[in-house]
Amino acid sequence: MTVFKTKKELQKFALETRRSGRTIALVPTMGFLHKGHMSLIDIARAKADVVIVSVFVNPTQFAPNEDFDSYPRDFERDAKMCEEHKVDVVFAPEPSEMYDADASTFVNEMMLSRPLCGASRPTFFRGVTTVVTKLFHLAQPDFAVFGEKDAQQLLVIKRMVRDLDFPIEIINGKLIRDEDGLATSSRNRYLSQDERQRALAIHQSLLGAKAAIIADPGKIDVALHNAKAVITAAGGRVDYVSALDTETLEAPTKKTRRLIVAAAAFFGTTRLIDNEMFDL
Ligand code: PAJ
Repeated sequence: MTVFKTKKELQKFALETRRSGRTIALVPTMGFLHKGHMSLIDIARAKADVVIVSVFVNPTQFAPNEDFDSYPRDFERDAKMCEEHKVDVVFAPEPSEMYDADASTFVNEMMLSRPLCGASRPTFFRGVTTVVTKLFHLAQPDFAVFGEKDAQQLLVIKRMVRDLDFPIEIINGKLIRDEDGLATSSRNRYLSQDERQRALAIHQSLLGAKAAIIADPGKIDVALHNAKAVITAAGGRVDYVSALDTETLEAPTKKTRRLIVAAAAFFGTTRLIDNEMFDL
């Protein structure tokens, strides 16, 4: 396994790999890897000749009041996990390598990035689409794998790839949970034992809403109200609990075939997201 710290090294490697006829799969991450990330890496490994994992805590997707500085980092551990999962290249640049100080070009998706996380984090998706575009240009992947844990991010990236004609196939990875149902996340590291226990209410609330909506699709509002109450009762502060069409991220209509019930909530100062997707 090779670790590249500079954009030049990665792009040279990627262009040579493509020229030699080998395929590349990219898994973008912010590191502090867990089994959710590893499931994406395993998908990439099965799909392409060469697997590139980026480990980069991307400053442009954090607002000034957010957790960029405290975001958990452990590069040695990440590198070891990548090696164990047969990754070929880890790309781990410093922010100053990734962005020139006067960088002034951004990529903006204007529809799917508005609701849900986009409403409470207005510059978040601009940072994601910009860094993912840069990673695509640097790693030249045939395939890129993203997790359904960040379902809105996945949709935004797919829309960007379609709208801007990136010659890349985006592959979904299933949402991975711990045994108790908590969606695995690097940010779970922030939770105290008590908060972690209480945060299980997020997934429980989503399962409750899912069951209620399947039983009576006419009463989505009641189901969402009850889901919020479950999170609040556990001491969480709800950012949103919404049920939207998985294709448009708009309110479901008669045409909606698949629904996403998505939640974001704070336990202590930690903001967690989760979702359930299901056919109607
Ligand atoms: P990060 O939160 O590190 O996640 C990297 C990838 O792992 C994303 O595609 C995310 O959806 C996936 N992932 C995280 N937890 C998961 C879980 N429990 N199950 C399945 N997949 C999971 O998402 C980002 O980083 C960044 O926004 C990034 C795309 C790297 C751009 O900076």
